[in-house]
Amino acid sequence: MTKIALFGATGTIGNRVLHEALRRGHEVTAVVRDPAKFPDPADGATTVVRGDVLDPASVAGAVAGHEVVVSAFGPGSGDPAALVTAARSLIGGVRSLGPDTPAPRVLVVGGAGSLRTPGGPLVWDEAGVPAPVLALMHAHGDALDFLRTVPVEEVRWTCLSPAAQIAPGERTGTYRLGLDGLVVDEEGRSRISTEDFAVALVDEIERDAHAGRRFTVAH
Ligand SMILES: NC(=O)c1ccc[n+]([C@@H]2O[C@H](COP(=O)([O-])OP(=O)(O)OC[C@H]3O[C@@H](n4cnc5c(N)ncnc54)[C@H](OP(=O)(O)O)[C@@H]3O)[C@@H](O)[C@H]2O)c1
Repeated sequence: MTKIALFGATGTIGNRVLHEALRRGHEVTAVVRDPAKFPDPADGATTVVRGDVLDPASVAGAVAGHEVVVSAFGPGSGDPAALVTAARSLIGGVRSLGPDTPAPRVLVVGGAGSLRTPGGPLVWDEAGVPAPVLALMHAHGDALDFLRTVPVEEVRWTCLSPAAQIAPGERTGTYRLGLDGLVVDEEGRSRISTEDFAVALVDEIERDAHAGRRFTVAH
């Protein structure tokens, strides 16, 4: 059993991570902006605390005493640059914990834009990506660039990029792994269900296989 602090538990991806972690017997603290609006039926099995991923002091207060911090934060229709602020805040908050508080590992849900397509350009350099999506992709890329400056001896971080397409669907419990390259199927499509993405993320919590790097998963 791992003690997990989860940002984004009300979101599409974060909520699947919450349920996957709970079904495997982990202890999850959902760190949410407004606990009164946490409608999840898993409430009974989840500790809910107030916290803001964009505020390092709030992060520190919420994550102390946990072994792993997961951020499935998304800026919604707000400024994509908040993804960089969140990455800095998560690392800053963990770094600020006192010497008597063990630093939790940090797992960040990233983006697919900075993955390299097989034999081709990066996903964000492919033709036809709409401007708002492009902005989100590059913000995720900037957040990853920041994480790559963080020595794992200081904060043991990992970034997990979804496949190019991720949507709610079936939990098969299977996926294929990649590092900085987009994982595609025989027809050239890169897809993962949100449920299997959560499986892969909780696998990483349990296995600690990608410290100090980004990896990706797809069917
Ligand atoms: N293919 C891809 O590359 C791909 C595809 C999909 C998603 N993603 C990335 O995956 C991440 C999660 O996506 P999603 O679709 O699950 O997002 P989502 O449904 O919009 O959820 C976002 C979550 O962030 C929380 N949040 C917002 N501001 C916060 C703050 N200041 N402090 C704490 N929590 C805050 C929201 O909580 P509230 O309830 O308080 O609003 C919500 O739980 C995003 O970063 C997204 O860009 C990548």
